[in-house]
Amino acid sequence: MRRIAVLTSGGDAPGMNTALWATIKLGAASNLEVVGVERGYDGLIEGTMRELTRASDEGLLPAPGLAWLAGTGGTFLESSRSEAFRTPEGRAEAAATLGRAAIDGLVVIGGNGSLTGAHLLAREQGVQVVGIPASIDNDIGGTADAIGVDTALNTILDACDRISDTARSHHRAFILEVMGRRSGYLALTSGVAASADAVLLPERPKTASEILDQLEDLVRHSFTASRRKRRLLIIKAEGVDAPTMQLAADLEARVADLGTVTVRATILGHIVRGGRPTYHDRMLAGRLALAAVGTLTGGAGDVMVAWNSDTGRRTIDPAVTLVPLDSMITETDRMLDGSSEVVQRRIRLLEEVEGVLAL
Ligand code: F6P
Repeated sequence: MRRIAVLTSGGDAPGMNTALWATIKLGAASNLEVVGVERGYDGLIEGTMRELTRASDEGLLPAPGLAWLAGTGGTFLESSRSEAFRTPEGRAEAAATLGRAAIDGLVVIGGNGSLTGAHLLAREQGVQVVGIPASIDNDIGGTADAIGVDTALNTILDACDRISDTARSHHRAFILEVMGRRSGYLALTSGVAASADAVLLPERPKTASEILDQLEDLVRHSFTASRRKRRLLIIKAEGVDAPTMQLAADLEARVADLGTVTVRATILGHIVRGGRPTYHDRMLAGRLALAAVGTLTGGAGDVMVAWNSDTGRRTIDPAVTLVPLDSMITETDRMLDGSSEVVQRRIRLLEEVEGVLAL
């Protein structure tokens, strides 16, 4: 193996740049030329690439001016959600690009859709590809953690603290919406960590009227003379099927007779996806990249490097295993349809702590 390519795909996640930088350095250290593909699979189809290593008297080195990548959010290579790559013709075109550029192996950094694409590229086109899980949603089957989750959670916690300051000053209930179209992981874990009063998840579907019943009950039991709460914080995942601003307006109308309680809502949206990666995400990015480059030089492919997984083949890093990409796809499907043990455990945890949160 002489030359590898790396790309980032799907929604960006803090720590993708760290994983890129680690891949460049690890590649150079293994005497591999590293080529960056711009704009994910779209760039792979179109052949937009740039050299990320250069030859020197001392051997291969990272291309100059890239060290800033280690500690920044977003993705320097840019990303895309490629429609063209969803077709077999698009994937054949992508494989042809790799052939023309004499690429021997590919590292794909992205979420479950991107890693599914990586598997198809391996199966249909015989490309030696390794996936690095990166998505703030933590909805990638077969890995306990993905790059970006920890930074996103810290951003949400910071927002919860700020919202709580203003909420306490006005005896207010706040609904805070966080990202997660199909996964409530961010809402659940940040809700527990921020000592929220309630958490709403797409994995526990409820109608808008059932949600309003629950929240009205919570408001009525919180601002009583005996409890004397000053703030009510409700964390809602984006994927819960009830518009956040409407929920807040309807809830305020329902408790209007109390006279003293106002309800406000904030949608954090893409704020949660940006920002400098935390220690944990940088550490994860480095260790997963180490396993990814080692996997390619070892001749394996069609796998994801997984963190603290209970499945997969061991690597030299005790926390990292190699999970076949088709197993990742099967488990992701189970996570998204709710049949996965991982999701059921999360719901059981919420049921266990729900009463405590509301206290
Ligand atoms: O990256 C995952 C995610 O952040 C989801 O939580 C969210 O629903 C989606 O991406 C938003 O995607 P886009 O940036 O394309 O609007």
